[in-house]
Amino acid sequence: MTTTVPFVIFNWKSHKLESELVGWLQQLKVAPPAVKAVLAVPFPYLPTVRELLPSGWALAAQDVSPFPMGAYTGAVNAQQLAELGVKFCIVGHSERRRYFHETTPDIQQKVSQLLDFSITPIICVDLPYLAAQAAELSNDQAKQNIIAYEPLAAIGSGHPANPEDVRQTIKKIREVQPYQAVLYGGSVDAETAFSYSEVSDGVLVGTASLDVQEVNLLIERLS
Ligand code: PGA
Repeated sequence: MTTTVPFVIFNWKSHKLESELVGWLQQLKVAPPAVKAVLAVPFPYLPTVRELLPSGWALAAQDVSPFPMGAYTGAVNAQQLAELGVKFCIVGHSERRRYFHETTPDIQQKVSQLLDFSITPIICVDLPYLAAQAAELSNDQAKQNIIAYEPLAAIGSGHPANPEDVRQTIKKIREVQPYQAVLYGGSVDAETAFSYSEVSDGVLVGTASLDVQEVNLLIERLS
């Protein structure tokens, strides 16, 4: 690991209803300083989650407009996210690429918008060389970004990648540029998280984020 404190990023994706938020968040435990805990929620829930997140947690969005504030109907821009207290934003998730046809130029513009408003991009890639290509970052910019290595076959499948393979791929990604952190994502849960935190700077968790007890347990195991 290059960072001493692992990132643990939970992504609700397009799950949950507003009526579930209070109950869920009331059960969420304080995150200890031994982890950097981040919760990425759908846009409409950002204000409520911001208000109810226990201490030690940071707020994340799952996407951002590639454009600044302006006449872009339906888009949520980085300045609006920053005003809502968003500190991190997932960019280029494979589901965005697959279902919304997000392209490399879109990702580059999104990263640039986020950096303008001091929000840390979490750029998702499934191959090491894409890390560099995805955002065309200078080394100085790269240090402000987090990369999440997410092999497609591991996402949502219940079949996480082999930790030794993850170690080797992450090593290659680190050779590309000096990123702030390189994480692993794909079917991580409380049971497997530790083996990935040993070979990376932390984990990006999807399905296991939905159950608050699993989230509490995962945090406990990495602390
Ligand atoms: P998963 O999702 O944990 O459900 O595999 C991970 C992700 O898509 O980032």
